[in-house]
Amino acid sequence: MNHTPETPRTILVDDIGTLVTNDPTLGRGPVGEIPDAALVLEDGRVAWAGPRTQAPAADARVGAAGRCVIPGFVDSHSHIVFAGDRSREFAARMSGTPYSAGGIRTTVAATREASDAELLANARTLEREARAQGTTTLEVKSGYGLTVEDEARALSVAGRITDEVTFMGAHVVAPEYADDPEGYLDLVTGPMLDACAPLARWVDVFCERGAFDEDASRRILTAGMDRGLLPRVHGNQLGEGPGVSLAVEVGAASVDHCTYLSGGDVDALAQAAKRPEPTVATLLPGVDFSTRQTYPDARRLVDAGALVALASDCNPGSCFTSSLAFCIAVAVRDMGLTPDEALWAATAGGALALRRDDVGHLAPGARADLAMLDAPNHLYLAYRPGVPQVAAVWKDGALVSG
Ligand code: NIG
Ligand code: FE
Repeated sequence: MNHTPETPRTILVDDIGTLVTNDPTLGRGPVGEIPDAALVLEDGRVAWAGPRTQAPAADARVGAAGRCVIPGFVDSHSHIVFAGDRSREFAARMSGTPYSAGGIRTTVAATREASDAELLANARTLEREARAQGTTTLEVKSGYGLTVEDEARALSVAGRITDEVTFMGAHVVAPEYADDPEGYLDLVTGPMLDACAPLARWVDVFCERGAFDEDASRRILTAGMDRGLLPRVHGNQLGEGPGVSLAVEVGAASVDHCTYLSGGDVDALAQAAKRPEPTVATLLPGVDFSTRQTYPDARRLVDAGALVALASDCNPGSCFTSSLAFCIAVAVRDMGLTPDEALWAATAGGALALRRDDVGHLAPGARADLAMLDAPNHLYLAYRPGVPQVAAVWKDGALVSG
């Protein structure tokens, strides 16, 4: 690569009021905070992080004017490849209609009707929206196609947006298989997986009453793993059930929702946190907000020793937010996390849930994915809920927003 003055090789981000590194060896507290800090970015990576008085020279300088810099959010759960609108379903829920996964079929019908270009345009808009709010890594699932062709189409669109692509043909049983769920299982684990496995990194299943039971979920995850996909699970969203234990059993990177957990589930997640490749409990506060459910008890999980991530679950049905700052505010206000724990969960926790060690922190060697907040420290994320505070975002060392 040629480095002209327009593309400096090293960039000094200087005059940072508080730098959150997520590396306790670099700074104070569990999120490794450095006051009066600087960062040096080089070739898309963090080359140096520390007190600004000790910063090495660089080719270019960006002044943070005393603002806070955090690792970019790692949103490990979204369903942004879809068409259609379900705002009325949301309004009905707010007047007492309970959430049911049945609404997924409304989005499936609209998504099948949409062209590839429409799906890509909608997904790109949402990805840009997320990025402007500080998200620098975003997982994207299929699951609103539910035919071989439409699931493959959704994954191709997702692959234009991110490397973290998840096959979720097992979102619900496709409408045309309503009377033949076994037939749908054969399709998902056979021809659909054949077409989709080359397009994805992960396999996911909605293990819940009304979607897939434990045996069906195990069969789907195992079939995906046999094709080289890594497992993750939607579980324990609408009630206690087998999702968590199955996720731990198959060594899933994450089990997501975890709104209703038994004591045994909490113990299993605490045990799974000690493994070299742990199973993370990914909590989705926006879903419980938008479906008027109780919030998961994040405090109980952390106190037991489980690893907790926060993600958006951005989708048109159960939660149409792309804001990790909102998720952090709810997690601090209503789920028992400290602001440090909530920020860690939305960055380093998300990275663990995606089995990534190059994102979610800002130690030397990490990807230069960062967000600058219009705030002196990260407490403001929960302290000023609903206020846009992300001033600028860098991904791989390049300014992508702000
Ligand atoms: O993660 N729980 C299942 N799937 C999505 C919701 C999908 C929808 O309602 O459209 C979720 O919440
Ligand atoms: Fe989801």
